[in-house]
Amino acid sequence: MSNQMWGGRFSSAPDAIMEEINASIGFDYRFAAQDIRGSKAHVAMLAARGIVGAEDAEAITRGLDQVAREIETGEFTFSRALEDIHMNVEARLADIIGPSAGRLHTARSRNDQVALDFRLWVRDAIDQIEQQLRSLQRAMAEKARENAGAVMPGFTHMQSAQPVTFGHHLLAYVEMLGRDRGRFADARKRLNECPLGAAALAGTSFPIDREMTAKALEFDRPTANSIDSVSDRDFVMETLAAASICAVHLSRLAEEIVLWVTPQFGFVTLSDKFTTGSSIMPQKRNPDAAELVRGKSGRVFGALMGILTVMKGLPLAYSKDMQEDKEGTFDALHALSLCIAATEGMVRDMIPSTERMKSSAGAGFATATDLADWLVRALGLPFRQAHHVTGSLVRIASEQGTGLEDLSLAQMQSVEPRITTEVFSVLGVDQSVRSRTSYGGTSPANVIAQADRWLAALAS
Ligand code: ARG
Repeated sequence: MSNQMWGGRFSSAPDAIMEEINASIGFDYRFAAQDIRGSKAHVAMLAARGIVGAEDAEAITRGLDQVAREIETGEFTFSRALEDIHMNVEARLADIIGPSAGRLHTARSRNDQVALDFRLWVRDAIDQIEQQLRSLQRAMAEKARENAGAVMPGFTHMQSAQPVTFGHHLLAYVEMLGRDRGRFADARKRLNECPLGAAALAGTSFPIDREMTAKALEFDRPTANSIDSVSDRDFVMETLAAASICAVHLSRLAEEIVLWVTPQFGFVTLSDKFTTGSSIMPQKRNPDAAELVRGKSGRVFGALMGILTVMKGLPLAYSKDMQEDKEGTFDALHALSLCIAATEGMVRDMIPSTERMKSSAGAGFATATDLADWLVRALGLPFRQAHHVTGSLVRIASEQGTGLEDLSLAQMQSVEPRITTEVFSVLGVDQSVRSRTSYGGTSPANVIAQADRWLAALAS
């Protein structure tokens, strides 16, 4: 049997392999709710403009509601022969209400229909991710506030650099996630134009009201160019770019968690809720959730590369290549959502070992900068010279195998005679972080203020 939608021109059914490569129902069934919502808005507009009679429009609307119910309850049988969600829904509508179902597709094409469904779907996904990111930020800001004074080593080149606080470190991620939210919000703003009514690519001769459908579907306005409406997927690229950057951020934190929970670091512990054991090594507690957050970032980047590659050689307007825009997107945004949830779980679950972090914070002459700064402040040395003096003191301490604070005053004065006992007050790690009061610095007072700023912003 030839296809019931375009059977007019075709005399035989597609080859089995043609049907298999062509079908998208195996994944675009996820558009069911969006597809039906779009169709209802479309038919309401057709009726308002007198393009379809009121009775037909009513029958179509009721029929679509029934299709929606059947899909929700799982009664609906999806058919691969019907290719995609659009034709599955329309064919079932025809079963239910008869030939007037055929009026629904007036002044519309699957090209604007799929562009609409996908925008609606991505918009929902962005809204969900926004909620999740807010919740993760809140968890981090709360943890940061609790640990505003918990000293830990700050690293550069993975070498102890200067003491910071655990709260400050967590707030670094809160900032990153704030920018991620901004990127998603930007993407949402640009995608929020309604392509419905662009039809196949050229628009339509029917007197449609695109403002009306745009409004009904909560878009800011209709798209202004029909060719653009059906041929671009930049809203997918942009969303996946934002998702990729966000996945980078989550992956970096995950990597840190993996390091922090090792016995060698021992900075934080995760409970059994977010770790697994080994089937052979009884002592192990593996941070699998963190490793998977790190690992899943690969699928998100992959989806971005996928859509860029699918689109880059396509002449305007629609080509079937574009059906390949969906699976990677579904997969990537699902993975990201899972990663955000798992990260929030770990952040809430983790218990910092503050003693351990603090003792590690002093290692590696982490207060050397404080000593140099003191030489500048108290003795008026130029910073470069202070750096040099401090370097000599670090060498002496290193040779005798102690910390800077363990040097005697005499040893200090052998390098710079004007040094006084006051210097010892800046060599402790608590002192060090408390002194970093510049805006954006790690002092506990700053950390509390920044955590409170975020918590207030996130509460509204
Ligand atoms: N399933 C198709 C897709 O996902 C819908 C659009 C089909 N349009 C067409 N001209 N064949 O892209």
